[in-house]
Amino acid sequence: MIKSPLNYIGGKKKLLPQLLPLFPEKINTFVDLFAGGCNVGVNVAADKVILNDNLTYLIDMYQAFQSHTVEEVIEHIESRISELDLSLTNQEGYLRLRELYNHDRVPLDLFVLVAFSFNHQIRFNNSHKFNNPFGKNRSSFNSIMKKNLLAFLQVIQQDHYVFQSLSYDNFDFTSITSNDLVYCDPPYLITTGTYNDGKRGFKGWNENEEMRLLSLLDQLNEQNIRFALSNVLEHKDKENVLLKEWLNKNDYSCHQLNHSYANSSYQTMNRKKNSSQEVLITNYVNNP
Ligand SMILES: C[S@@+](CC[C@H](N)C(=O)[O-])C[C@H]1O[C@@H](n2cnc3c(N)ncnc32)[C@H](O)[C@@H]1O
Repeated sequence: MIKSPLNYIGGKKKLLPQLLPLFPEKINTFVDLFAGGCNVGVNVAADKVILNDNLTYLIDMYQAFQSHTVEEVIEHIESRISELDLSLTNQEGYLRLRELYNHDRVPLDLFVLVAFSFNHQIRFNNSHKFNNPFGKNRSSFNSIMKKNLLAFLQVIQQDHYVFQSLSYDNFDFTSITSNDLVYCDPPYLITTGTYNDGKRGFKGWNENEEMRLLSLLDQLNEQNIRFALSNVLEHKDKENVLLKEWLNKNDYSCHQLNHSYANSSYQTMNRKKNSSQEVLITNYVNNP
């Protein structure tokens, strides 16, 4: 299993063992429409994999991963670390790199920033400035991150991986056929990730977007194109009524996955209140 080198909010790393067996055995083109950390797209066997996300700076970084050799990527990261003396404690160096990135937008610098940022996370403000704070005493370009990056680069540098940065509703499905699979892992309506509050300079996620995505999936279904949608039906004390109604109206398959976002000690105290009902909804039945 390839691990994304990013600690991506909402990443499907832990759910992969449950998700992958639910995908069709033979896939020509796999479209990961909301690719994020790419945990899903890089682990699916397909002739072609399209990884799309509307976070343009993220896609610029992945495209730079493809257009440089592995040695060049590592050399870039390591020379930035030594130029700015980046470490677990040098906040000034981190802030200097953040300034440089926000000014020059060198795509590979985004990865160096993420390596030293709080929880290794990506966060932009409304003016598209990267604004995640320093991960003091916690975040660095450590050996695990390097190992994950090397394995990730080996995969995505193959010719059949294509990155693009479009909003899902502008994606061109004209060449997608019934031998392909469109996988959607959108921001969840009833949970919050830093990418979905609509205040980060990128289009946010709301009921309107959710309805438009669901009707896009209905259209794909009418064209005999297979889709798989990740989502949560319930989270803590909230439920996704729109999604439940859509499920009731249609004859799609809803696979329950076993996952909880809750912190384990708190979860023991109040299991039900913190549970998440995570699902994969498909318009195909998997042939054993
Ligand atoms: C739940 S995350 C995907 C996580 C990913 N499956 C993984 O395992 O790493 C959702 C992603 O949707 C992206 N996104 C939000 N709105 C979008 C839109 N309108 N079109 C395309 N991508 C969008 C966000 O930038 C975020 O990366």
